[in-house]
Amino acid sequence: MSWIRDHIRTIPDYPIPGIQFRDVTTLFQNGRALQRLILEMADHCSDMKITRIAGIEARGFILGGALAHHLGVGFVPVRKAGKLPWKTISREYNLEYGTDTLEIHTDAVEPGDRVLIVDDLIATGGTAVAALELLRDVKAEVIGSLFVIDLPDLGGADKLRAHGCPVHCLVSYEGE
Ligand code: PRP
Ligand code: MG
Repeated sequence: MSWIRDHIRTIPDYPIPGIQFRDVTTLFQNGRALQRLILEMADHCSDMKITRIAGIEARGFILGGALAHHLGVGFVPVRKAGKLPWKTISREYNLEYGTDTLEIHTDAVEPGDRVLIVDDLIATGGTAVAALELLRDVKAEVIGSLFVIDLPDLGGADKLRAHGCPVHCLVSYEGE
């Protein structure tokens, strides 16, 4: 998927020295690229019988919302702490730099829902594992997870697979 890489901007030393930030705004702001990206993502999950997409705030909302619309399925927001108005459960997790908390509504899924986790990028996997655990806490059947970018040096995809969640990524930055 080299065409996807062509649209991703790399920013050295952001937000702290030593981090190569993979910036998807340049991918999202190109209409043709965004449309092609969503079609690639939809193609990947065409046989999964997904009934809901769980998007992780914030960049996972952009992709997850567009993908849910394309597939004609519901969208579940997995949000940063303090943003959801109804009854929630929380999970704290470690980021590549810092810590954060994710929350989900306790009634976000219904029995029998087949859920796909969507985010722009998996690095250490802390975010995605927290989302997976939240979804399982509310009794979702998590069918898999889909990311645009994998940073395999940080081990997140393997970590998520070790939790029993299939992982698919469209592009990978290894040793870069
Ligand atoms: C970024 C990225 C993923 C997460 C991956 O989100 O969008 O959600 O980090 O990191 P991990 O695999 O090490 O957990 P971030 O919370 O930085 O910002 P966002 O709200 O802009 O998505
Ligand atoms: Mg994010």
